Amino acid sequence: MSSEASNITINEYSVLIGHSIKSEINSFLSKKQYDKLAVLVDNNTMKSCLPVLKESLEFSNEPLIIEISAGEEFKNRTVLDTVFDQMLEHGINRNSVLVNLGGGMVTDLGGFAGATYQRGIDFIHVPTTVLGQVDAAIGGKVGINHKNIKNQIGVFADPVAVFVDAIYLQTLDDRQLRNGFAEVMKYGLIMDKTFWKEIIKKYGSNFWLEDSKTIDPELISTCIKLKAEIVQKDPLDKGIRKTLNFGHTFGHALESFYVSHGLELLHGEAVAAGIIVEGWLSQKLLELGDVDFSEIVDQVNNVFPTLEIAELDPDSLIDLMRHDKKNFNNEINFTLLQTLGDAKVDNHVDVELITEAIEFLKKL
Ligand code: GLY
Repeated sequence: MSSEASNITINEYSVLIGHSIKSEINSFLSKKQYDKLAVLVDNNTMKSCLPVLKESLEFSNEPLIIEISAGEEFKNRTVLDTVFDQMLEHGINRNSVLVNLGGGMVTDLGGFAGATYQRGIDFIHVPTTVLGQVDAAIGGKVGINHKNIKNQIGVFADPVAVFVDAIYLQTLDDRQLRNGFAEVMKYGLIMDKTFWKEIIKKYGSNFWLEDSKTIDPELISTCIKLKAEIVQKDPLDKGIRKTLNFGHTFGHALESFYVSHGLELLHGEAVAAGIIVEGWLSQKLLELGDVDFSEIVDQVNNVFPTLEIAELDPDSLIDLMRHDKKNFNNEINFTLLQTLGDAKVDNHVDVELITEAIEFLKKL
């Protein structure tokens, strides 16, 4: 089943959204007349998504396939080097295009490779996860981790196009589908109370248990529209874009903590925990009400019912939070909720209160 794609334009590139949108990608490629095409995949998308993409591509030359290992721990310089090596070896040049086929890890690392190889070549994102479709592939942030700290090295660089195809979501397991939902909830919480209430109404109980492969395409495009609205106002993350970081100061520290301890936690799972910790701080420091905070905790628990957070040491997490890119004046800086649907950036929070918020999470 193929559907007509809808189009959201961000800066100068199009995000095309639909189901089995083969003709859109082909007409884009034929207009551009690239000489060579490289496709970056990880070991999951190599198996489950590359055959779908290859079947839909009408490209005269066989693409170069570059495979990397899946997982946040591989979003690093060593892996990036292997990508550059293969691009160089196969003569990828400024008339070529790199297609990043995967979740946030692939589009982040691949986008950074595309933006820096030969001072920048064209790259396209084809996000294959809910998280990639609603967040990572949208807005031009690309980069890698450094010393296990999330996204420490990177640039702002726009792809030439993004193709958001629902067909790839059918390849995801239940855990991956839930993973993307933390970012979906975040959009409602920071900027659209009506959307938040719709999420509760639609997914408020029995989350995806009836048909775990169905995700409403409208939900994906609403999130992309909301994100587009923000990144167009503040592409370089100097002001309002920081609202997108709600849940992420704690979330990124937790992810880094897991990676450095050789443990596994998905980004959305870390952000879900971050939504609780930072929701708790919002209730203490701003005007978020008790009932609203309880609704947030209930909804996070509903989407992530089996999430078990490792034995946490608040001091190590606070040390990791000190590397957050939103900090200034050596203070830890959070985006918090003023109320449901309204976020406030640049809130300095004392270490004692952060510790209390982490203790609250541990007791849940
Ligand atoms: N993921 C947050 C941002 O793109 O700003």
